[in-house]
Amino acid sequence: MITLPDFPWDRLTPYKEVAQAHPDGIADLSIGTPVDSVPAVIQRALAEAADSPGYPLTYGTPALRDAAAGWLARRHGVTVDPAAVLPVIGTKELVAWLPTLLGVRAGERVVFPELAYPTYDVGARLAGAEPYATDGLVSLGPERVPLVWVNSPSNPTGKVLPAGHLAKVVAWARERGAIVASDECYIGLGWEEEPVSILHPEVSGGSHEGLLAVHSLSKRSNLAGYRAGFVTGDPELVQRLLEVRKHAGMIVPGPVQAAMTAALNDDAHALAQRERYAARRDALRPALEAAGWRIEHSTAGLYLWASDGTDCWDQVRRLSERGILVAPGDFYGAAGKQHIRIAITATDERINAVVRRLQ
Ligand SMILES: Cc1ncc(COP(=O)(O)O)c(C=O)c1O
Repeated sequence: MITLPDFPWDRLTPYKEVAQAHPDGIADLSIGTPVDSVPAVIQRALAEAADSPGYPLTYGTPALRDAAAGWLARRHGVTVDPAAVLPVIGTKELVAWLPTLLGVRAGERVVFPELAYPTYDVGARLAGAEPYATDGLVSLGPERVPLVWVNSPSNPTGKVLPAGHLAKVVAWARERGAIVASDECYIGLGWEEEPVSILHPEVSGGSHEGLLAVHSLSKRSNLAGYRAGFVTGDPELVQRLLEVRKHAGMIVPGPVQAAMTAALNDDAHALAQRERYAARRDALRPALEAAGWRIEHSTAGLYLWASDGTDCWDQVRRLSERGILVAPGDFYGAAGKQHIRIAITATDERINAVVRRLQ
């Protein structure tokens, strides 16, 4: 049997109940789930594709692959061949199964950041491999590893890895034959820093060999409910993933492929959504600081990574008593035990309630 970690969110339930008892209701900033509508241009594309009786292509429609490549070129200075784009059923699915799909073997170590989205660890375990959380690749010594995850901007810290740092990771991995998978689901949400893709020529040196970039539409386009993302990069790796995914039935539904195409071809809705998050962040950040929290990193992405120097569960408890639910830092690794993660994904009305409650 594979041992998986306990689902950590269950541990928040008692604090959620406390927050829910607030006379003006809970303000839930514990998860990064979109709350604003799916943009009309995307809903329309989904509806127009509703009559989809046949099997969709695992590889995605040519229009979808073109739209993904077009978006990367237009917004992120990255050139990929549309043939090297592969849609996924939300990126959590790919993160959880990538080590298995790549044939990572038992006993091998899958590397990911010390403070990280928990699914990198889960993915290593599903493959029977060893999860290994570190920010210092030198700690691996001469060991060869099959796969290294990077995540910039980071969940939970909002930290951005500069191009020079990413280039060093790529060089390290290439020397050892490791694949670098870069989870870039917050790449369009740089506030004080501009995030850069692993596939950008300044990082990759112009070759995508051994590199995969993973992109989610959940945050950019409020599509968490549609399950929509894609992976691209090294054409040979993408073809390998396609082969296994075809056999395994990992297919994005046709209407969702149409919706993703519309989403990736349109920047106006993403810019409007970005503005909403910017305003919520501008309201929350000073309110937290005035109430005694220090904000660290958080220069990009959907979270504020904060500490008041006490144990994370104590911070969760005190905020729950004001009707505010946040995530404890230790959900993301032991290094987070004095931090909390505050999502900026609540409605303006709920964000204003938090600001008032912190006063
Ligand atoms: C770092 C990171 N990767 C991947 C995901 C999964 O996103 P989705 O499955 O909605 O594409 C999330 C979701 O919050 C995330 O924070």
